[in-house]
Amino acid sequence: MAQYYQARGIENADPDDIYLGNGVSELITMVLQALLGPGDEVLIPAPDYPLWTGATKLCGGTPVHYICDEENRWWPDPEEIEAKVTENTKALVLINPNNPTGAVYPRHILEKLVDIARRHHLMLLADEIYENITFDDVEMVNAASLSDDVVTITFSGLSKTWRVAGFRSGWIYVSGPKQRAASYLEGLELLMNMRMCANVPAQHALQAALGGYQSIGELIAPGGRLYEQRTTAHRLLNEIPGVDAHRADGALYLFLAWMQRCTPSKMMRPSSSSCCVPRRFWSRTGARSTGRTPSTSGWWRCPVSRTWRRPLRGSLTSSATIARERSRASEAACAQAPGRGQAASAVLLQLLTDLLEALLGAGEPPLAPVRQGFAALPQRQ
Ligand SMILES: Cc1ncc(COP(=O)(O)O)c(C=O)c1O
Repeated sequence: MAQYYQARGIENADPDDIYLGNGVSELITMVLQALLGPGDEVLIPAPDYPLWTGATKLCGGTPVHYICDEENRWWPDPEEIEAKVTENTKALVLINPNNPTGAVYPRHILEKLVDIARRHHLMLLADEIYENITFDDVEMVNAASLSDDVVTITFSGLSKTWRVAGFRSGWIYVSGPKQRAASYLEGLELLMNMRMCANVPAQHALQAALGGYQSIGELIAPGGRLYEQRTTAHRLLNEIPGVDAHRADGALYLFLAWMQRCTPSKMMRPSSSSCCVPRRFWSRTGARSTGRTPSTSGWWRCPVSRTWRRPLRGSLTSSATIARERSRASEAACAQAPGRGQAASAVLLQLLTDLLEALLGAGEPPLAPVRQGFAALPQRQ
């Protein structure tokens, strides 16, 4: 694993700096457990991979979310992050490539995030589990390659690039001025020792996975399953009136915004008289803003009466609603999928169908091309 990071341009990566765990999920919890006490704050992206928020709370800390704005390619805004640093802030989390937005952060943004961590003495927690899943030659920069002088913990594992999530195998790489984090690392090692060891059979898979031929290369190239699914999903979804998704530069997700032909009951209402619409659709709804929503700067709060009476009636659903729909649709599709081999495509199709039917109404014509488009995609081998 040290060689893996060396090959990615982090020349001084050393085996002693690598810790193994039963998946990144376990390691996130352990890393935060060793770090946080009551009142400690962790800067976490929104939308986020929810484990980061949940684990922070579980460990007694307080998640403080910084916005990744859809209008800015879902990239974080360094100024906003810095404004949220307090004397209680202990760490800055970045997820790159990002779940759920599919964003890959450019070097200049990463440099600014590293600089914030440097100046405020924050630990940088870089969840880079999708680091090898990027499209169209987008540059993926490991934060650790920019942060020699910042205590940095990089997370990765077998679940995504090597597609064996059930093996429960992940690792962290600790870099930067480790002497400054000596007591922290002692605590972390203690927690790791209390767990005895990471899953041994999966450790045999690590060498085989990280060395040699990398099948992910074909999947993310034009003609490959992941590339074609991403491209087709993006194209077909954006053809549906009212649905809007940025093209993902990496990871396995598209994050949708949509204009719902809404009935008042389907609208997300922060209060009985207002709802949220994405700012980018503002001119189309014709509604007047009453201010930013508290949750994201890309959305506006506006009076209900102004939106649902308009022809392109605007409303938005919250990421919580998306997540609920997502897990419900995935469970249903998994139950019906004929075999494990087809599960991934089936889940994706079912998820899109369920979501769109729930929002647009069953039998709407836009779903037909989505179904056909997905049926024509390469199936999982
Ligand atoms: C951003 C991110 N981090 C961590 C994980 C957890 O990975 P693991 O299977 O190694 O626990 C996931 C899984 O979806 C993820 O999307």
